Amino acid sequence: MIDILCPACTQPLQRAPRTWQCAQRHSFDVARAGYVNLLLVQYKHSLDPGDRSDSLQARRAFLDAGHYAPLRRAVVEQLRAHAPQSVLDIGCGEGYYTAAMGAATGATATGAAPEVIGLDIAKPAIQLAAKRHREVATWLIASGAQLPFADASLDAITCLFTQLHLREMQRVLKPGGLLLVVTPAADHLQQLREGLFETVQPHEPDKFVETLGTGFALQSTQTLNFDLLLNHADVSNLLCMTPYAWKARPERREAMAGRTALQTAAAFVILEFERKA
Ligand SMILES: C[S@@+](CC[C@H](N)C(=O)[O-])C[C@H]1O[C@@H](n2cnc3c(N)ncnc32)[C@H](O)[C@@H]1O
Ligand SMILES: [Zn+2]
Repeated sequence: MIDILCPACTQPLQRAPRTWQCAQRHSFDVARAGYVNLLLVQYKHSLDPGDRSDSLQARRAFLDAGHYAPLRRAVVEQLRAHAPQSVLDIGCGEGYYTAAMGAATGATATGAAPEVIGLDIAKPAIQLAAKRHREVATWLIASGAQLPFADASLDAITCLFTQLHLREMQRVLKPGGLLLVVTPAADHLQQLREGLFETVQPHEPDKFVETLGTGFALQSTQTLNFDLLLNHADVSNLLCMTPYAWKARPERREAMAGRTALQTAAAFVILEFERKA
């Protein structure tokens, strides 16, 4: 097990089944569902930070229908090539991708179990994740801006459709450690967006490469394209889980939500970086 640090004093937490405690006796309860809340009030910035419950439920239903299974396979395959002993999934949401990552981890030299950690700032996200996938990962409520890990302590970080906190990712990754970033490719959900907006702005995955340039070296870029055949419920879920859909004019949004079927492109970019020494 890797060291998880107390958010109040940064000393390692002793993990017991019911409570985690540091040497200074700051303690954090393990919730009944099996997660730990390490988000201190001063880092919360709002009462309910992160994704809201309705959007999380919609994402879970959409992912459960299997529409992004090819992406999950591709992420696990790419991780497997590195056989990391520790993986941190930042902004893990309801845990669809995180829960599959254990299959990609490698055995440690000491025989200790490898560990996958799912971390999200939204309490309802971690609740959903822990309830379904308690045993396969460690679930933490915390912010990507304040990661509860020691410097150079992790083998791999994944960030799927989540804001990047570069300094913290660089700090906690081991030199040579792996960062996988997944972001929409230029034409992701093109037909959906053409229905919602008069002008469709292409997504800009290259922006990530530019911002990550200093501390991380780009190792590979993989694009993944496949068709989505969506029914009425899938389209409603997709609209609810996609933040920019709310910017569409109400009549366009309603027309899209009323569709009984939609064929649209799924297009993703998987960027693999190495943390520079
Ligand atoms: C678009 S969702 C992606 C969820 C998941 N990776 C997936 O692809 O299904 C972005 C997630 O980032 C979380 N998030 C937003 N700000 C965060 C922060 N500062 N630290 C950690 N997670 C954050 C949200 O709560 C949300 O679950
Ligand atoms: Zn402490």
